[in-house]
Amino acid sequence: MGTDSIGFLDSGFGGITVLSEALRQLPGENYIYYADNEHVPYGTKSKEEVHNYVFSAVDFLVRQGVKALVVACNTATSIAVRDLRNSYSFPIVGMEPAVKPAVENGNGKRVLVLATQLTLKEEKFHNLVQRVDQEHVVDYLAFPELVELAEAMIFDTDRVVPVIKEKLQDYDFYNYKTFVLGCTHFPIYKNVFRQVLPEHIDIIDGSIGTVRYLKHLMEESGIVNTRPGGGKVRFFDSGREILSKERLETFKWLLSQC
Ligand code: SIN
Repeated sequence: MGTDSIGFLDSGFGGITVLSEALRQLPGENYIYYADNEHVPYGTKSKEEVHNYVFSAVDFLVRQGVKALVVACNTATSIAVRDLRNSYSFPIVGMEPAVKPAVENGNGKRVLVLATQLTLKEEKFHNLVQRVDQEHVVDYLAFPELVELAEAMIFDTDRVVPVIKEKLQDYDFYNYKTFVLGCTHFPIYKNVFRQVLPEHIDIIDGSIGTVRYLKHLMEESGIVNTRPGGGKVRFFDSGREILSKERLETFKWLLSQC
């Protein structure tokens, strides 16, 4: 696969929700998915720790010969994407909570952004809100419990519904028009959110826009694969290729669900 691949990096399973979109928009490419399972979750760690984890993960991916990189993790993006772009010359795209489309969608109605503590604490997020939220309609809430559930491979709706309901119990849904899933782990539970939230609430995430931007950058750099083949994915847990049947099947099952 070598230099033909696009690297994907996340703390764990979350980036799969972006990878599945990449397989749709860029089906001719091969992919290397790096889950930093030794250090997950990122959202509760310090900025310095996450910065170091991200750089070692990307060093590893570079040694595999990737031609482009998706930082498929909102927390890692907030902390490290700028420094990564200053350190490497291949196209690098990151995640950003979809606050702008949410505000535009809301027509003055409130927006709730769900993300990790670290994403919500970072200047990058506050600058974004300041830029697009002229009417002060954006609220935000850290939801680390969902990352924990995903990493514990708890995908059963009956176990997830009560967690989401409890977390959102103080919110009057009728004040809201849009919920933003600002952590790549959260779209794993998009159908569960759909069951909990009333129909008038739109649920959005940033994966389609991120992959569209990746495709644009790759086209500009002339590195889109035009040869036959593609669509292969290799999975790594913090630098070790995943060979365990059960874990590999979980990644593939999640891919098929997103
Ligand atoms: C986490 O590892 O805490 C979640 C990462 C994310 O923000 O997508």
